[in-house]
Amino acid sequence: MELLEAFKWRYATKKYDPARKVDKTLIDKIVEAARLAPTSSGLQPFEVFVISNQELKNKIVSVAFDQQIIADCSHLIVFAAWDNYTAERIDEIYALTTTEREQPADRYNAYTDRLKSLYLPRPAEVNYTHAAEQAFISLGFAIAEAASLKVDTTPVGGFINDEVDKLLHLEEKGLRSVVLLPVGYREEANDWLANLKKVRNPREKFVTEIA
Ligand SMILES: Cc1cc2nc3c(=O)[nH]c(=O)nc-3n(C[C@H](O)[C@H](O)[C@H](O)COP(=O)(O)O)c2cc1C
Repeated sequence: MELLEAFKWRYATKKYDPARKVDKTLIDKIVEAARLAPTSSGLQPFEVFVISNQELKNKIVSVAFDQQIIADCSHLIVFAAWDNYTAERIDEIYALTTTEREQPADRYNAYTDRLKSLYLPRPAEVNYTHAAEQAFISLGFAIAEAASLKVDTTPVGGFINDEVDKLLHLEEKGLRSVVLLPVGYREEANDWLANLKKVRNPREKFVTEIA
């Protein structure tokens, strides 16, 4: 589907059909779109968890204001960002970059030294927030790819982050949850939002053109 058409088709689905599972090949494409998202300095400071385990989804419902979309969806993607920037994390991604590009190991040292001098003195919370911003771009890519495949999604920020972190043992991985993405197929007859008009600010309110 053409991308803009897909964006008009999609909506934040409020009722999933629990009987309809999304094919693994489609889930893989949605995750691949998330992986291909751009990130600040290419640091890719987040990971995703793809959960189809019903018991775990049910547990997450209980720390997400009882949002049943999490139980009924086919797969739940959890975006989790680095809890902080470290020299090791920065070095690791640039080591991967130089290896993949067959460049000298020190090719980006001047740049990574600058990153470290900027990021490492900052409070962990500031760095987590910066990492989480990158995860949100990835979320957008995943939503867009899903829509283009006619797969429904709902971005979910309504959950208790610390509780999801505990359920997924994120702290020991140096991660913190950012946002959830239920993925599945709408149960249109029981979804109050399915046929309501999509409402956005008019273009003239949204855009200021400066020629
Ligand atoms: C960061 C973020 C968090 C959201 N959290 C929730 C949520 O917890 N539950 C929910 O049902 N919808 C949630 N939404 C969906 C929005 O309400 C929805 O995207 C918005 O109203 C626009 O409607 P549309 O997506 O149907 O076009 C969230 C959306 C975003 C971008």
